[in-house]
Amino acid sequence: MARESWTSRIGFILAAVGSAVGLGNIWRFPWMTAENGGSAFLVLYLGIVLAVGVPGLVAEFVIGRRAGKSPVGALESLSGSKHWGKVGLITVLAGLVLLSFYSVVGGWILRYFFASATGAYFDAPGAYFGSISYGAGAAGFHVLFLAITAGIVAGGIRGGIERATTVMMPIVILMLGALAVWAGGLSGAGEAYDFFLTFDAAYVQANALDILLSAAGQALFTLSVGAGTMITYASYIGEDRSLPADGSIIALLNTGVGVLAGFVVLPLLFSTPNVDPATSGPGALFVGVATAFGELPGGRLLALGFFAVVSLAALSSSISMLEIPVAYLVDEHGFERKTATAGLAAFVLVTGTVSAFSSEVFGILAGPVVDILLTTGLFAFVVFAAWVLGGDAVEEFTLGTRFSSGLGDAWRLLIGVVLPPFLLFTLFNGILGYLGWQAPVEYVAVAAIFVGLAVVTSVQRVASTERADNAA
Ligand code: PFF
Repeated sequence: MARESWTSRIGFILAAVGSAVGLGNIWRFPWMTAENGGSAFLVLYLGIVLAVGVPGLVAEFVIGRRAGKSPVGALESLSGSKHWGKVGLITVLAGLVLLSFYSVVGGWILRYFFASATGAYFDAPGAYFGSISYGAGAAGFHVLFLAITAGIVAGGIRGGIERATTVMMPIVILMLGALAVWAGGLSGAGEAYDFFLTFDAAYVQANALDILLSAAGQALFTLSVGAGTMITYASYIGEDRSLPADGSIIALLNTGVGVLAGFVVLPLLFSTPNVDPATSGPGALFVGVATAFGELPGGRLLALGFFAVVSLAALSSSISMLEIPVAYLVDEHGFERKTATAGLAAFVLVTGTVSAFSSEVFGILAGPVVDILLTTGLFAFVVFAAWVLGGDAVEEFTLGTRFSSGLGDAWRLLIGVVLPPFLLFTLFNGILGYLGWQAPVEYVAVAAIFVGLAVVTSVQRVASTERADNAA
């Protein structure tokens, strides 16, 4: 059977934007910003999106389009080595882990959507969230969210994912824009914008490392890089597209939606007297925002619209998580798409139910495990693109563009030399942080540079001997 493809350029872009725009933008971004000093975080985050996220995203596109296969097959066939295929298996794991907690949050969102119609959480938002967040109810809504996700993925690339995301994304962007305009009239809007947009140099200096790590984690998560989703999505496109242009458009739209979500959520938080924006944490949406809707005139209708938007954004991301292992089973093991989808959904039904019952499991998956998987994944992809594909990556980068290879070479240098130590630096610091160990930051930096360059040189050496062998 011929492999599927997107019908159009816009179809691919909206699917990729759909993957990128999700709970990461609307749920995670505002509270991360609120917790990390507002604008200081925003500036660093934007810098990392530009310098790491976009080049990394393009690396995934290059790998996916070059191979026309899902990540495992792509890394294996492009390198001619089974070992790289094993590295690619990280993406299958990442997709399943991501979905196992994301589907629980998606379930909360669906529940809030229904509860907005009756106003069930308006009287005591904190207690309501406490009562529904873990347990049988959470598991039930997780299953509902997962079932919708699987239903779309089972429909295939054109009939499922593309059809859904081309309807969903314009609705999400327009409704979020309308809500941001409305939120601009709230009493706390001025204070929220100040907080969002004023740069506090002293705060940055005092908390630089923490802000950097949070911003890096958020940048990868929100752009959906490191999990192999973007390799998978790019494997369904043709050679007439400019990958750097598409990558930039996707990142721009994604960042725009994040900022827009900040313009909705932060004014709501700042307009509600008993909510402290800087400490509301992951509950910001469910408690802070819910409180605000409960107190505002017309809150019920606004809450319905808001949680509808968030539901759509979450679904357009969750389908991209499930598509990673589905594409793997279809491409590498010859499964029918529907069978693969059903089997994998049954698996996540179980793992997600575990995290719906246990806040510990949920916290570990959503925090350290996802951070480690995405950072390690992206590290592998950039090293692979720069040093295994090498010149071929640059060729793929310029294909369908009017760029000379100079820009491609600069990109290759960035992803091949600068990004690997940077990603390891965030990875090492993250792991040390979770273990509660202290290490001077300079030591971590030296270790990251050392290990990064060691990996790069050995990968490059193996790849060039293999190339020489093949040529002989
Ligand atoms: N980018 C999504 C969000 O911001 O909600 C989350 C995500 C989707 C991460 C797909 C990774 C991924 F592969």
